[in-house]
Amino acid sequence: MDRFVKNFISMSIIYLAIASLLGILMLGNPSLLHLKFVHSHLNMLGWVSMMIFGVGYHILPRFSGKPLKSPKMGETQFWLANIGLVGMLLFYTLGTFNPEVSAYRGLTVASGLIEILSIFLFFYNMIATLYAKETRG
Ligand code: HEM
Repeated sequence: MDRFVKNFISMSIIYLAIASLLGILMLGNPSLLHLKFVHSHLNMLGWVSMMIFGVGYHILPRFSGKPLKSPKMGETQFWLANIGLVGMLLFYTLGTFNPEVSAYRGLTVASGLIEILSIFLFFYNMIATLYAKETRG
C-alpha cells in the first residue's frame, strides 16, 4: 500500500473521531451549533471523502488492471486536501468568534479553493488511470 494511501485512511479516521466529539459537544451545548458547518465538513470531506480517496487510489487501479497514473499527484493531493480542509474549518471557526475580522472570510474561501484543487487532482488522476490505453497485449 502506498504511503499516501495509508495517510489518507489514517487521517480519515482521525477526522471521524474529532467530528464525533464535536457532535457530542453540540448535543450537550446547543450554543456550539454555530459550528455545524465544521462538524458536517469534518465528516463529509474528512471522514467520508478521505476514506474514499484512500480506498479509491488503492483499489480502482487494481480493478481496471492499470497502474495509477501518478502516485506523486496522489501524494500532492493528500497534502492539499488536508491543508484545505483544516484551513477552511479553522478560519471559519475563527470568523464565527471574531465576526469583525473580515480577513477570515477570505482565508476560509482561499482554503476551500485549495480543497477544490485537491479534488480536481483526484478527478484527473482517476480518469487518466481508468481511461489509459491498454498496456496488456
Ligand atoms: C457521534 C457521532 C455524531 C454526533 C454526536 C453528531 C451530532 C450532530 C449534531 C448535534 C448535529 C446538529 C443537528 C442540528 O442541526 O440540530 C449534526 C449535524 C450534522 N451531522 Fe452529525 N453527528 C455525528 C456523526 C456524523 C457523521 C458520521 C456524519 C456524516 C458522515 C454526520 C454528518 C452531519 C451533517 C451533514 C450535519 C448537518 C445536517 C444539517 O445541517 O441539516 N454526523 N450532527
